[in-house]
Amino acid sequence: MADASRAGPPAAHLPVLSQESIELLQPRPGAVIVDATVGLGGHSRLLLELIRPNGRLLGIDRDDAALAAASRRLAGFDPPPVLRRGDFRHVAAIAGEAGFRPADGILLDLGVSSPQLEDPERGFSFRRDGPLDMRMDRRQALTADQVVNGLPERELGALIRRLGEERWAARIARFVVQRRPLHRTGELAQAVEAAIPRAAWPADIHPATRTFQAIRMHVNDELGSLELGLGGALEILSAGGRLVVIAFHSLEDAVVKRFLARESRDCICPPEQPVCTCGHVASLRILTRRPVRPSSAEVAANPRSRSARLRAAARL
Ligand SMILES: C[S@@+](CC[C@H](N)C(=O)[O-])C[C@H]1O[C@@H](n2cnc3c(N)ncnc32)[C@H](O)[C@@H]1O
Repeated sequence: MADASRAGPPAAHLPVLSQESIELLQPRPGAVIVDATVGLGGHSRLLLELIRPNGRLLGIDRDDAALAAASRRLAGFDPPPVLRRGDFRHVAAIAGEAGFRPADGILLDLGVSSPQLEDPERGFSFRRDGPLDMRMDRRQALTADQVVNGLPERELGALIRRLGEERWAARIARFVVQRRPLHRTGELAQAVEAAIPRAAWPADIHPATRTFQAIRMHVNDELGSLELGLGGALEILSAGGRLVVIAFHSLEDAVVKRFLARESRDCICPPEQPVCTCGHVASLRILTRRPVRPSSAEVAANPRSRSARLRAAARL
């Protein structure tokens, strides 16, 4: 029996769309759940409460600091959650090796957590000066410093335009290249501020938001992990099992939407083709025709939830 009162102090990261995730995941007593982005264990803790007795939860994260925090926060549950360090692009292999295949529910709550953003040493934030790092997995070789100082101007601009959807990308790249070497988040933020004419600064976000987001997504190959992770999740879901994905970025949400649309169709031949030759068979039923958005009350309580979009599907 879980003793949630011993689960430690609340972490500084509020789980986003938690009630909506739970309703769609439908965790039942005894269920096998994979939280592929365990973070600080906010969602996992709620799930562990609902799958007891005998339910099992696997928590995956590529960040060792997140896993350490999750381990503290989820202490006291019986059976204890199994925590594994890894990239969810390998979710099928990690779950198989840990004995969590098939799984009844899989959750992906994408992006970075508040403690990652707020720790200046992690280099994710334009608000807190720190080294240009941005790696979720600190064993990884590629850092933001290498991207900012190593890419040719055109490539840097293309990356900021594509992943940041930033219209000033070419000018930002030019200013960055003129100021190289840049080794601090503060220096990068200043270069972006100088590149975008003040009259064109966005009203609701810091001018460097999109550039930082683009570099972070590139350093961590976030869209690549998502594409592969969705495929892996499908591989290990049990019949009737549920997949819930929370995205914070329109490009991520587009990947999820496309994946769910494809896997919920029997034929994926081009529409102009008169006869099906693909042999594709639907394996998912979409549960959210439109993405689920946070309520205004949740956004007020947790501004980070503002851009969240949740999509869910059930395995056929
Ligand atoms: C938004 S936070 C999750 C918060 C968590 N749901 C909670 O309530 O505490 C996202 C987490 O996913 C992790 N993450 C992001 N991409 C990942 C990937 N490809 N593989 C594994 N973990 C990843 C990050 O390190 C971060 O800890």
